[in-house]
Amino acid sequence: MASPVELLPNDYFRRLDRSDIFPDPSRPLELDVGCGDGTFLLEMARHFPERDFLGIERLAGRVSKITRKAERMGLTNVRVLNLESSYALAWLLPLGCASRIHLLFPDPWPKKRHARKRFVQPDNLAAIHHALAPNGLFLFKTDHAPYFEEAVATLALSPLFSPLPWLKPEEFYPLTDFEQQWLAQGCAINAARWQRTD
Ligand SMILES: C[S@@+](CC[C@H](N)C(=O)[O-])C[C@H]1O[C@@H](n2cnc3c(N)ncnc32)[C@H](O)[C@@H]1O
Repeated sequence: MASPVELLPNDYFRRLDRSDIFPDPSRPLELDVGCGDGTFLLEMARHFPERDFLGIERLAGRVSKITRKAERMGLTNVRVLNLESSYALAWLLPLGCASRIHLLFPDPWPKKRHARKRFVQPDNLAAIHHALAPNGLFLFKTDHAPYFEEAVATLALSPLFSPLPWLKPEEFYPLTDFEQQWLAQGCAINAARWQRTD
């Protein structure tokens, strides 16, 4: 039987309503794009019971793992969608639904000829802008310095976002699974935050 934690839209070709995701549309919703094994997503959901969290992840095995963990933890404010995130943001999720969108350690596509596959590029930025509520925030972290520089340069050219300083150290923001691995290897972590402009 399907887990209630997994978001299974009835129709993948119709934009969802906010209430198709969580019952109370007045609560803030945060998205974790490419949420991996859900370490960050589940910790956020546990820490902020007054907010809702939706992870988007294309690997079904990772999605199952998250649903099992969320059920064990008794969390009712977290769901996960097994789908390609560009499609989900551009075509499936309600417009203006998210207070924050987290993109944490996306695949870096380090080879020059693959760089065009990186998630931070103009079409996806437009989709992120559409999915964010007015004044919503886009948060990005990576260990990969060339990707970080490219993302910052791309966002600087975009009229859709304006830069903000990263979070204060006292603000709760748990380490992701990949972040823990990179830190253990002594890698530097780059972080940036932008606000949706209207
Ligand atoms: C490097 S991992 C990082 C996972 C997690 N954010 C973390 O920091 O631990 C990137 C994740 O994004 C997922 N992913 C990559 N491209 C995706 C896409 N287009 N749509 C949805 N998920 C994607 C991968 O399957 C993987 O789980």
